[in-house]
Amino acid sequence: MSRLIKTDDSVVNDSSNLAFSSILDASLQRRGLLKGLGASLALGLAGSSVSQLAAAANAPLAPLSLGFTGLPFTTDDVVHVPAGYHANVLYAWGDPVGVPGKMPAFKQDASNSAEEQAVQAGMHHDGMAYFPLPFGSAHSKRGLLAINHEYTDDGLLHTDGMAHWSEKKTAKAQAAVGVSVIEVEDTGKGWRVVRPSALARRITATTPCAIGGPAKGHALMKTQADPKGERILGTLNNCANGQTPWGTYLTCEENWSDYFANNGELSADDKRYGIKATDTGYKWAETDFRFDRQVTPNEAHRFGWVVEIDPFDAKSTPVKRTALGRIKHEGATVVLAPDNRVVVYMGDDQRFEYIYKFVSSKTYNPKNRKANFDLLDHGTLYVARFDKDNTGHWLELSHGKNGLTAANGFASQADISIHTRRAADLVGATKMDRPEWIAAHPHKPYEIYCTLTNNSERGKDGKAGVDAANPRVDNTFGQIIRWFEGDNNPASTAFVWDLFALGGSPTGKGNKKASVQGDTFGSPDGLKFSSNGLLWVQTDVSTSTLNEKDYLGMGNNQMLAVIPERGEFRRFLTGPRGCEITGIAFTPDNRTLFINIQHPGETSSERSDPAAPKAISAWPDGAAGGRPRSATVVIRRDDGGVIGVA
Ligand code: FEO
Ligand code: CA
Ligand code: CA
Repeated sequence: MSRLIKTDDSVVNDSSNLAFSSILDASLQRRGLLKGLGASLALGLAGSSVSQLAAAANAPLAPLSLGFTGLPFTTDDVVHVPAGYHANVLYAWGDPVGVPGKMPAFKQDASNSAEEQAVQAGMHHDGMAYFPLPFGSAHSKRGLLAINHEYTDDGLLHTDGMAHWSEKKTAKAQAAVGVSVIEVEDTGKGWRVVRPSALARRITATTPCAIGGPAKGHALMKTQADPKGERILGTLNNCANGQTPWGTYLTCEENWSDYFANNGELSADDKRYGIKATDTGYKWAETDFRFDRQVTPNEAHRFGWVVEIDPFDAKSTPVKRTALGRIKHEGATVVLAPDNRVVVYMGDDQRFEYIYKFVSSKTYNPKNRKANFDLLDHGTLYVARFDKDNTGHWLELSHGKNGLTAANGFASQADISIHTRRAADLVGATKMDRPEWIAAHPHKPYEIYCTLTNNSERGKDGKAGVDAANPRVDNTFGQIIRWFEGDNNPASTAFVWDLFALGGSPTGKGNKKASVQGDTFGSPDGLKFSSNGLLWVQTDVSTSTLNEKDYLGMGNNQMLAVIPERGEFRRFLTGPRGCEITGIAFTPDNRTLFINIQHPGETSSERSDPAAPKAISAWPDGAAGGRPRSATVVIRRDDGGVIGVA
């Protein structure tokens, strides 16, 4: 079948990147402010450390330079990459994962059964990581891809969409979320999925998972089906991800509350996490009483976690790491402190929610892989406060500290890990504009970037107004914030920060009717460094915004390459209609890039109607193929060179 992907070789973008130079100027001014912080001993940093941080922020230009012609905005139903590059679909919803003896083909009319879906690619690909094969090697031609499948569009998932909802439909939807682990190889003529593979597996909303950390065995984690509170069926709404130095994959449960319903009195926990009388359209609670709070009240406590998966063992049991807190986890970015403690950065993606980090008690052991398997169960959880003088503090979420006591409703660390949002409220964390991905500079792991994708409610109806880190009301297009950890140590409890870039118009206006041009972008979401120090930004301007006439100038969602030291942005990829771009994985040699196209053709309702006459996208299969499908795309340079650079 023909895939609607082509290389764009006709476009010249001679933008001078003015959009970002103005933003960068503002940023540099802030950096000037940072220099003045040397005397701020209240920060808890030695003056020399602050000077070091300021020096890092003002580091000389990196030797990197961008080596491609930037793309313009696009509105067609195609993945565009620059001249000299090619992009191919590798793994689309419904493609067999490669489990030996179980490789059902995708049926274009969506008539695959739940059992078949459980061994096929799930829907709505999101975060992703590449693991070289064999374990411990740095091979760039054979490896594993672990891929999140965030949620389902049930209009597309079933032949007749959401009509006549049934147990079977719930079962298929539950088989279409979770994670894929696929084996991939570069044959010399392009990448392919290795089928069959002994390592191929799907993890779904019914795969048994273990529990690690303080909430294991807690009364709030026990259900009739799991009286010990030690075993949970499945993971869902797997959004962004992380990857540990010991070769495991972290998948993050984001909008889990959307699957639950409580047609009774809402608890404080329901209200704080957004569970309502009915779900947001998944209908699982109608046939699976795990998701009905009236029938299984504790099941909702068993979601909202970071889940660790060993991709090198298809029989391994995923573990929910409760020490990392229960929030709407976007991603889990792992770096090592100088003493080899493990630091995990995490965003809670909802309006006015927080940025967290976890610091392990024990240290990473590079010589004994399995000795690291419980590192994420023991450590300290923090939440961030961004002060207006461009300093910041990590506020400890430990039982007995900062008011987190029984008198305030926290009888134990388990209480804090289950009710993390409430604990963060109590210690005074800064309410952010929807924290999405977090990226650490590969050569300076104390230099951290976080996408804050948007917040249309900022300053409205009595809600929190602007602050230094979230400076715009009715913030449609978001910003990227950056911080430098004290003493060049990711485990530090203090930092200095600045705003790295504002989404939207060149004047920094983030509201409607923004004038967009050049290498501007909106609603940054995916964010990751390649190992050579290039920063990659992916966007998720919402479908409802993209469809508004005012925003047509923004084009389809996109991916940009950034030289952070220069604040230089250049558009590298644009997606088909109605999609978001997400998931970033490079091979160790940076010559192959994997990305995901999620929800091509999405409607504003996020639920498609298969009977609708005019779908806006038929990507990747084209009109003859029928339903649009999320997919992993592999990108290479025609000459096999390093992606993005000259
Ligand atoms: Fe699943 Fe916040 O994106
Ligand atoms: Ca996201
Ligand atoms: Ca998003």
